[in-house]
Amino acid sequence: MKHWRDWRNDLLANPRFQAFAARFPLTRPITHKRASQVFDLCAGFVYSQILHACVKGGVLEFLRHGPRDLSAIAQSIGLQEEPALRLMRAGSALGLLEPRGGTLFGLGQHGAALLGNPGALAMVEHHHLLYADLADPLALLRGETFPTQLQHFWAYARNPDRAGAEESAVAPYSKLMSDSQTLVRRDILDVIDLANMSMLVDIGGGEGAFATEAAQRWPELSVGVFDLPAVVARAQARFQAAGLGARGQGYGGDFYADPLPAGADLYTLVRVLHDHDDDKAKALLAKIYAALPKGGRLIIAEPMAATPGAEAMGDAYFGLYLFAMGSGRPRPAEEIEAMLRQAGFTSTKRIGTPRPLLVRVIEVRK
Ligand SMILES: C[S@@+](CC[C@H](N)C(=O)[O-])C[C@H]1O[C@@H](n2cnc3c(N)ncnc32)[C@H](O)[C@@H]1O
Repeated sequence: MKHWRDWRNDLLANPRFQAFAARFPLTRPITHKRASQVFDLCAGFVYSQILHACVKGGVLEFLRHGPRDLSAIAQSIGLQEEPALRLMRAGSALGLLEPRGGTLFGLGQHGAALLGNPGALAMVEHHHLLYADLADPLALLRGETFPTQLQHFWAYARNPDRAGAEESAVAPYSKLMSDSQTLVRRDILDVIDLANMSMLVDIGGGEGAFATEAAQRWPELSVGVFDLPAVVARAQARFQAAGLGARGQGYGGDFYADPLPAGADLYTLVRVLHDHDDDKAKALLAKIYAALPKGGRLIIAEPMAATPGAEAMGDAYFGLYLFAMGSGRPRPAEEIEAMLRQAGFTSTKRIGTPRPLLVRVIEVRK
């Protein structure tokens, strides 16, 4: 028997029904909203490029302290006035900017919100790599365009000699990660309780920003970062600059191949698990389970697929992003919990975060 969804789809695809629904007073508002949503899908790539131009051209920053005249804006971006006006109007239509009368333009609500989130701006700036990889999405999905630009950027993705990666290969992504982590780590550290824990090791902890802030919030806590050797050198510099002394330790290695540092009663995986294919992710969780003492904890924090209200962020954005990176996938919380049970953990706890679009948290205890 035909499913009701197929009846619905037949109706929605019917041009005569579409014309009727656009005129009929009760369906007209719905039709307009849906048409606008479909148009946004068609035009999304263009919108993203307009955002990219505003960020790369420094427009948001230039308008931080108030509206400016078109001529000054054009000069600051290095554009003629006519194309600059085109960009100002486009940015205004997207809520990034706002016309303020005459030839003045200021920040719009989205532009102001983005300025308050430097991490998002850093991500936007590196998106040109993703856009290049997505230029022919079917060729990408067929595997015809590997190695991709994103694979070059993320030096550890599909690189068997990842532990030998040099400083120049890890610096750009490590900086991007630490720049984009500010809100993420605050949201995590605001909702977890590390009293009574003695040693946290942040696995794939990058430049050590998360571990450093944890140590600053919980003065009794020792912290460590386990990451590729060239990345750990950056974390150690941060620990030193923060004056953590012996409370901050770096452990260089490859978590696929090397043992995890011993002595931790808390391991954290912040924006790490989704980078790895299922077999590798499962092996890592099993390794963590084996390394933890009884009563020890593991915290997984990352954006997750099927997050209510943020579905597109998971399967659409991260789904394609990680595919282009050549490793990993966004997972719903339920799948991560199932993997944790497979690794040996018996009870899992979800901890709510203020911005689930940015990060969600699952905690388990051995
Ligand atoms: C997406 S970044 C996340 C960094 C940090 N946790 C954050 O949220 O900003 C993933 C990190 O895992 C590290 N990593 C990836 N594969 C690894 C491996 N096999 N062994 C050790 N570290 C690895 C990378 O070097 C990188 O620092």
